[in-house]
Amino acid sequence: MIITEREEWRNLAAHYEKIKHAHLRDLFSEDKNRTESLSLFDEGILFDYSKNRITGETMKLLLRAAEASGLAEKIEDMFSGKPINQTENRAVLHTALRNLSNEPVFVDGRDVMPDVRAVLAKMKDFSERVRSGQWRGFSGKPIKNIVNIGIGGSDLGPAMAAEALSFYADRKLNFFFVSNIDDAHIAETIRMCAPDETLFIIASKTFTTQETMTNAESAKSWILEAAGGNRCATASHFVALSTNTEAVSAFGIDTANMFEFWDWVGGRYSLTSAIGLPVMTAIGYDNFMALLSGFHSMDNHFRRTSFDKNIPLLMGLLGVWYNNFFGCETHAVLPYSQYLRRFTAYLQQADMESNGKSADRNGQPIAYQTGSVVWGEAGTNGQHSFYQLIHQGTKLIPADFIGFVNSLNAIGDHQHKLMANFFAQTQALAFGRTGQEVTALGTAPALVPHKVFAGNHPTNTILMDKLTPENLGRLIAMYEHKIFTQGVIWNVNSFDQWGVELGKELAKKILSDFTGAGADSAHDASTKKLVNFYRDNRQK
Ligand code: F6P
Repeated sequence: MIITEREEWRNLAAHYEKIKHAHLRDLFSEDKNRTESLSLFDEGILFDYSKNRITGETMKLLLRAAEASGLAEKIEDMFSGKPINQTENRAVLHTALRNLSNEPVFVDGRDVMPDVRAVLAKMKDFSERVRSGQWRGFSGKPIKNIVNIGIGGSDLGPAMAAEALSFYADRKLNFFFVSNIDDAHIAETIRMCAPDETLFIIASKTFTTQETMTNAESAKSWILEAAGGNRCATASHFVALSTNTEAVSAFGIDTANMFEFWDWVGGRYSLTSAIGLPVMTAIGYDNFMALLSGFHSMDNHFRRTSFDKNIPLLMGLLGVWYNNFFGCETHAVLPYSQYLRRFTAYLQQADMESNGKSADRNGQPIAYQTGSVVWGEAGTNGQHSFYQLIHQGTKLIPADFIGFVNSLNAIGDHQHKLMANFFAQTQALAFGRTGQEVTALGTAPALVPHKVFAGNHPTNTILMDKLTPENLGRLIAMYEHKIFTQGVIWNVNSFDQWGVELGKELAKKILSDFTGAGADSAHDASTKKLVNFYRDNRQK
């Protein structure tokens, strides 16, 4: 049955009508126990969701809707390797990549854990050889620069995690992440590197992605030119992370230097696969294993904790509440940590590529809202940029505030000031400042309306001790499972991404127009004119 026709959904809609104007100021003053009942501490996370436009009744109804969607069974289907990505007939088993228990995980009757462990051991060996200076470039010098070439899931996860955990990184090594096909990206990166001290990690699940293969070919030419055409240089300067052995060999990379993963690992869920190799090389094997253990621990929490105490699940339901009942189009993710500067960009792919769907699992068109627009920026930078609109604009934007009690650097009173801002923002967003309060401050009457804060802007607060590898793992897995929860409720396949295909196909056609007689007459008039303008204005 379509979700919006279910009784649980109708009950939520009726409840929404009753409480849609309730103000957080009143909800807090009416229920002194609110913060206790609408917050929990687990997995090292204080998750405070009391500053949401909900009551205990809202949560009951949302939890019922979750039960009615078959979520419990679907969670088990994912963890046990059922082919839940049905449009590609694949299991979805990123959780096996960080399964640190002794339990086997079966795909088509075969335990995948021995392969997972073998790749981890191979990654350990490689990362230790690079970190110790044993891995040498064509001139005999140790490696100093590591350039990951990949895009989407083969870039955003490792780039985000390498930056997030840079406090733990080996400072002798420099890490770069090249993704864009714009030649500025590879050009500016190699300008900073000496070829004989540079190792390229070519990260691509398919090993066919245009951006990655183009950048990889340019990197290869650069190395071969510097090595005087010695083709053996490829072996010491290139390794591959992929599922496609044939294409890796065809590129010229020895498969001994290929780190394998499998079709049951989705690109945007692949950070804990071989795709994490640059991260392991940066922070070392033990720290990488701590990262995996954080993921594993949150996986267990999601799989085994009752719905009403399950952090990712509750986050998913709150997102549904705003998306489908309040009509919110966007969701802000605001980490108060400079180390998490790339976290929201990473989440954009994880969330929007997963749940940006308008056909349901049965191929039927969807008549309700699915995935939110995810956006944000590290605090406090965002406060001096777009927070104005969240506080006083006309849109309702639910937001997650992510913060840490302890800083890794402990310089002066930076941390106190950072966190004072963190707490102040959710307070201001929830409770605002009334006209009366503004007037009482002696404000000139003409200015009062400009200085009023309506408040009633919902936030989740996610507070952890400090940014350790383990806590980062928990945080990422928490969002992965939030996305899963929402995909189940919306009845979409969160694990395919057909929406990226058409653009790829058309770009191939247009590329051939540049070298042929002119723009293909089959193009629409606008595209034809643009393509011809481009051709005509290229410098000869
Ligand atoms: O953008 C589409 C996509 O297929 C993503 O899902 C994926 O993460 C990215 O391209 C890169 O793919 P690959 O790892 O195969 O190069």
